[in-house]
Amino acid sequence: MGDRVIAIDGPAASGKSTVAELVAEKLSIPYINTGNMYRAVTLGALRAGIDLKTKCDEASFSRLFKNLQLDYKRNAAGCYEIELNGEFPGNAIRSPEVASFVSPVAALPIVRSWLSQKQRDFAALGMIVMEGRDIGTVIFPESRFKFFLTATPEARARRRLAQDGENFDGATLESVAAAIAERDRIDSTRKVAPLKPAVDAEIVDTTEMTIDEVVDYISGRIMHYEDSRDDVSGAVR
Ligand code: CDP
Repeated sequence: MGDRVIAIDGPAASGKSTVAELVAEKLSIPYINTGNMYRAVTLGALRAGIDLKTKCDEASFSRLFKNLQLDYKRNAAGCYEIELNGEFPGNAIRSPEVASFVSPVAALPIVRSWLSQKQRDFAALGMIVMEGRDIGTVIFPESRFKFFLTATPEARARRRLAQDGENFDGATLESVAAAIAERDRIDSTRKVAPLKPAVDAEIVDTTEMTIDEVVDYISGRIMHYEDSRDDVSGAVR
């Protein structure tokens, strides 16, 4: 079933979330942002009082998971949104504190296996867009549609600052680029499910592309693929 998942992977702030959401909208199919799941687990740990500076380990998360509830629910606008312990955490999952701990948390095997199972369950929804770091390599290696978005570190830092709506100077740009680079370093070098393109993924360098160009490119590839098959299903449009 996972062959109909559209996997969009790539490093931090490569534009994946915006692109994935718009591709899903264009194709009228659900969209799942798996980074939000790792962020929500990190927020849940902080809210449970775990000191992630010293206790970011398997034992802490094994205890946490006994009482942590994480679901994807449709929000008032009908979009799937993460729900942590019965409520939508909203922007709390994007705080600088969560961002600073999420990569070490996501490197723990217990966290990855707990979330992987939830992510695989979404295949039951049929054709969906799922975005993250390891969707094409580990979660749905059987997917027919795999895209790996990249952009230069500076372009990504600019996008992250623009996304947060901040006015920024050169020093801020440099520090955001450094924080993004550090997250990429941890994500690419971890033992379990490291950030890397699947061998059969299409790599899309978005440095010089607008969001709309990337969205049109990806949705065009999918529609073209569907059109070229004998058993075209109407599900895509
Ligand atoms: O939005 P941004 O690109 O900054 O990151 P995100 O997609 O929200 O993901 C936050 C963090 O979760 C990443 O830096 C990874 O450490 C982790 N993550 C992961 O390990 N595997 C995924 N499938 C998705 C996210």
